[in-house]
Amino acid sequence: MSIYNVGILVGSLRKESYNKKIAQFILEQEESKFGYRIIDISELPLYNQDVDDVGNPPPSYVRFRKEVASLDAVLFITAEYNRSIPAVLKNAIDVGSRPYGKNKWDGKPGAIISSSTGVYGGFGANHHLRQSLVFVNILTMQQPEAYLGSITTCIGPSGTIESQKTKDFLRSFKNAFEQWAERIIHTKGQD
Ligand SMILES: Cc1cc2nc3c(=O)[nH]c(=O)nc-3n(C[C@H](O)[C@H](O)[C@H](O)COP(=O)(O)O)c2cc1C
Repeated sequence: MSIYNVGILVGSLRKESYNKKIAQFILEQEESKFGYRIIDISELPLYNQDVDDVGNPPPSYVRFRKEVASLDAVLFITAEYNRSIPAVLKNAIDVGSRPYGKNKWDGKPGAIISSSTGVYGGFGANHHLRQSLVFVNILTMQQPEAYLGSITTCIGPSGTIESQKTKDFLRSFKNAFEQWAERIIHTKGQD
């Protein structure tokens, strides 16, 4: 049985998203102390501070913030749009960070996987995301980094990851993330 809850936020809403397929691969790995689930960010309206200023956030914000608060760690798996992160993912980060003083991300361990059809593997998105995570105080694993380029070549006709190298890499990334997350969670417990 899993001890720690990890939320996966996918930076793509596309039905056949490659990033969703990477998330699916993570979900299918054998059970560990870390249990993974995808957190839906598709229903969050664009953030408007007015709703928090008058204390009337939409139900989807309330649900999402509660879900984020319950997580022990966060794994971001994202596409790159125009050398940055897709707006839907930035919006989710913004929603989770507010109202002021109630940042739900605060102090959680995190990690980033970016992928793209291009050769740079979403490097721009990966690093723009890191910038926001610094501010919301997600303690983001630095190494190993994960930039999965030319992602179409790693995925077979059935829509699953077929490249052995990519599978091995993702498994070792997941292990490293779990070690990182456990260290942060224990350090927090000793505060
Ligand atoms: C609006 C838009 C902007 C994009 N910008 C980039 C980019 O800056 N760099 C890149 O490598 N790919 C870019 N792409 C291509 C994406 O890598 C490709 O669409 C990929 O499949 C998106 O991830 P997904 O399959 O998870 O939806 C862009 C795609 C869209 C729709």
